[in-house]
Amino acid sequence: MEKVAVIYGSHYGTTQQYAQWIAESLQAPLLDAAKTTKEQLQNYEWLIFGGGLYASGIKGFKLLKEHSGEKLILFTVGLADPKVTDYSPILNNNLSKEQLQNTKIFHLRGGIDYGRLSKMHRLMMAFKKKDAEKKISVQPNEEDREFLATYNQQIDFTAEETIAPLIDYVKKELEAYV
Ligand SMILES: Cc1cc2nc3c(=O)[nH]c(=O)nc-3n(C[C@H](O)[C@H](O)[C@H](O)COP(=O)(O)O)c2cc1C
Repeated sequence: MEKVAVIYGSHYGTTQQYAQWIAESLQAPLLDAAKTTKEQLQNYEWLIFGGGLYASGIKGFKLLKEHSGEKLILFTVGLADPKVTDYSPILNNNLSKEQLQNTKIFHLRGGIDYGRLSKMHRLMMAFKKKDAEKKISVQPNEEDREFLATYNQQIDFTAEETIAPLIDYVKKELEAYV
């Protein structure tokens, strides 16, 4: 059994980029969730899963639906700033109770190029904009303000150094289990 694998679910490449950096840093195999089966995952003791945030979903995470969350590290990649974002709704929506207890979770910041979005994604973002405008008029908040400030732009917040806490955590855990 191999020690650790990095799996990613990505539409536009930012999560894939983070997954590549993490896999390189740990010298671990890199797997695309869309081309990976549950059986293949059984070859690894630890799993690091990265998924892009899409409204209430985490791209590709359904591959781990039945996973207990033990020896699982999840990183999400979204446009929102992790410092001002409440991730509990999206986590509660995607992780089982067991996974919520057992999984170590990190949040990284991706990017967006509205010019490259599919029609469906553009429409979803237009709805999200309306919703954010409504919410901010009732109760000003940083999460919606940031979203509206970057709407319809090309923006890239990906930064390799932000994987450091995840890498440190994984290295410590792996050492403890040797
Ligand atoms: C339809 C749609 C919904 C999104 N929903 C969220 C969201 O709920 N929270 C967030 O932080 N980012 C959201 N984003 C931004 C993506 O998570 C961001 O672009 C991320 O970097 C995409 O990852 P990928 O390039 O690996 O696909 C959304 C983007 C689209 C197009």
